[in-house]
Amino acid sequence: MHRSIEVDWILWPYDLQGSRARLEILLRAGLLSREEGDQLARAMDELQAEISGGEHAIAGEDEDVHGWLERLLCAKLGPLGAAPHSGRSRNEQILLDVKLFLIGHAEGWMAALRALLEQLKELERSAADVVMPGYTHLQRAQPLFLRQYWRAHRHTWTRRLKAVAAWLAEAREECPMGAGAINGSTLGLDHEAEAHILGFRHACESPLAMVSLRSEWFAYAALTVHWMLEVSRLLEDLILWNTAEFSFIRLNDSVTTGSSMMPHKRNPDLCELLRGKTSTALGQYTGLLGLTKGLPSGYMKDLQEDKPLLFALCRQLDAFLLGLPAILAAVEIRSSEMEKAAADPLLLATDLMEFLLTQGVPLRRAHHQVAEWVAAAPNQGGLEKLARSQLPHLPADFFETRRSCRLRERGSAEKFMGWKEPFL
Ligand code: ARG
Repeated sequence: MHRSIEVDWILWPYDLQGSRARLEILLRAGLLSREEGDQLARAMDELQAEISGGEHAIAGEDEDVHGWLERLLCAKLGPLGAAPHSGRSRNEQILLDVKLFLIGHAEGWMAALRALLEQLKELERSAADVVMPGYTHLQRAQPLFLRQYWRAHRHTWTRRLKAVAAWLAEAREECPMGAGAINGSTLGLDHEAEAHILGFRHACESPLAMVSLRSEWFAYAALTVHWMLEVSRLLEDLILWNTAEFSFIRLNDSVTTGSSMMPHKRNPDLCELLRGKTSTALGQYTGLLGLTKGLPSGYMKDLQEDKPLLFALCRQLDAFLLGLPAILAAVEIRSSEMEKAAADPLLLATDLMEFLLTQGVPLRRAHHQVAEWVAAAPNQGGLEKLARSQLPHLPADFFETRRSCRLRERGSAEKFMGWKEPFL
């Protein structure tokens, strides 16, 4: 009933890492002899190799990863096997283990995100000057270069990369060790040195704050969910564009599946699956936050319930990192369909209104005037013909979509501020 080992056993490499650091400072404090230290270090090395090799099943009495490893060390060394637990509590051990796990996860995420940004950059490059309609409310709004579409996601994901880097820098600051169960220990150990051994900048500053702290994990969870939400926007676009109604892209067979009943179907399953995982992740995230609502200061066993949710969230993100490169590689652009849709003159109604502004017509009057022309256009040979009959000074190339896109691109922040390459 109390067990968490089925979930937290994956933390064993980090728990051993913590034990090695503790061993070192116990030696420095003279609380273990050099010989005892050597025995323990050797036993830990053996254990590392054995567990990696699939030895050491979890037994019924093992409550959590910390107890499991201690039992295995004691099986090798007798009572000496428990020495790395001196001045230490499982309350801080779990904090260290999860922190190291998340740091590793964040590093993996950043590497994968950088590769994804390269893929987006390639899509941007190969889009050349293909134009497409931009939508608001899923209604055709204004024209856009396809490359601007990919750039929008590159921009968003670059910001996410930056946020993960900032989280990582913060996570590497303070080491949980030294917090003990709630207020450290009386052994006078050098936790500053321990922190440095473990790759942190400094030791725990407030034991009570540390053992109660989960916000750093939650901040990481939030980053993962925010990115999944951002990605699911792209996925939804691709799903729509892949329909017969849009036909803007074809998702090739590597990421679609057939129907067991309808022979003609190719379904964008992978995109849908990741979109669905975003909802599951959202539930896991709110579940995590809920766990700390109403808890007093100090460690409470409620907090054991956070690991299943946190690890599940990390696995959801892993699924994104596995699936997304395949999805982006499977996009075949049907530029003729995009361009056909982008040639709709109504997309330039706003341009027309802005032309009137340049001619001195006040904004609301110009808006009203163009709305009237749009309404009358079907009976007057279309918007272009009607506008030309009313505005003889309209430039000859006014209704060329690319011209409109170029003017917009020139006026956008991308041009003025210079598009920055991903900074990392
Ligand atoms: N397994 C616990 C957790 O995941 C850590 C151990 C602390 N348990 C305790 N009873 N003090 O949070």
